Amino acid sequence: MRASLQLHATTAPGLEQVLARELASLGAKDVAPAVRGVSFRGDLELAYRANLWLRTASRVLLALGEIGAGSREELYAGIRAMPWEDHMSLDKTLAVEATSHKSELTHTQFAARVVKDAVVDRFRDRTGRRPDVNPKRPDLLIAVRLLDNRCWVSLDLSGERLHRRGYRPPGVPAPLQETLAAGVLMLSGYDGAAPIVDPMCGSGTLLVEAALMAMNMAPGLLGRDFGFMRLPGFDEKLWRGLKTEARALVRESHEPFVAGSDISDDALRATRASARTAGVDGVIRIRRADVADLAPRTEGMLVTNPPYGERLGEQRVLAELYRALGDNLKHRCVGMNAHVLTGSKYLAGCIGLHPHKRDILWNGPIECRLLHFRMY
Ligand SMILES: C[S@@+](CC[C@H](N)C(=O)[O-])C[C@H]1O[C@@H](n2cnc3c(N)ncnc32)[C@H](O)[C@@H]1O
Repeated sequence: MRASLQLHATTAPGLEQVLARELASLGAKDVAPAVRGVSFRGDLELAYRANLWLRTASRVLLALGEIGAGSREELYAGIRAMPWEDHMSLDKTLAVEATSHKSELTHTQFAARVVKDAVVDRFRDRTGRRPDVNPKRPDLLIAVRLLDNRCWVSLDLSGERLHRRGYRPPGVPAPLQETLAAGVLMLSGYDGAAPIVDPMCGSGTLLVEAALMAMNMAPGLLGRDFGFMRLPGFDEKLWRGLKTEARALVRESHEPFVAGSDISDDALRATRASARTAGVDGVIRIRRADVADLAPRTEGMLVTNPPYGERLGEQRVLAELYRALGDNLKHRCVGMNAHVLTGSKYLAGCIGLHPHKRDILWNGPIECRLLHFRMY
């Protein structure tokens, strides 16, 4: 599998351009941003590298082909004709995930079942036996995307989504996915060198992602596994070599230049636990503080994701917090750049400052604004 492969990395809406830049810097060819993802070409090494290094991708897919899918029969026949025995053996398990837009087959679970049946029937006809299905942790995850009655068929090389880096303590809610936090930092121009502060750090996702960037630590080094490891032809030597290379590139530093605070002790505990598991506790300094008592600063950047409340009543209560943040930025952060991610237009206005730029991002189903302020 040294040949050029057609690959696709998915991401949250609004992060396509940063993901494209990440891919270009890894040496990907024909990088083409699309909606919620980026297509590119590369060899097996690049596919492994993408899983190891990408900070804003949710998963990396290997495109297998495109077939007609105007009806159940057409989809079934197209899938059954594909050489699935090249991608899995009978002792492995499979699962199928489907999406559908503007197609006759609108029901994604139905489309997934048709694909699964076609793969299983192909094995049964050729060998008399059928592979098992494991929806939770399959060896082979087939991703199909139906659009305009065509179907794009891919293998998921990542397995579990890449935002699951492995450092978040179990049971701690994730108000911000790791991949979105990394995207927020990149859109804010964070280069891993400038001092950075998050005065409402919550469980510390922005801080840990910033620290990983500052230390040039590949997120895939944090101990999780990947779907490609369970595919036939997994090149373990190549993968080990890429990890050794990535480890050698880690910048060790004992200077705490990533700083965070929060009003909640639980949040600080979660941040500490994540930082320790990620191996970045040496560069993160945290303390308990109200954002209204922000320590004066003149350099570096502030990146934060204040609470935004879903109901209007909650938002009215939070208005004061946003006003305090705005006042503090104005009076105590002259010379800094500030970047605020919020899901509320009303609360964004309460900051009382004019952003020089704004990006639209989606935190799950919530449309958010990332506001960029220059504090002269
Ligand atoms: C949306 S969460 C931040 C999520 C965070 N980005 C993460 O990765 O988990 C907002 C945080 O603001 C904190 N907060 C609320 N009011 C605050 C205040 N007055 N001063 C400091 N922190 C505050 C909350 O405790 C909460 O942890």
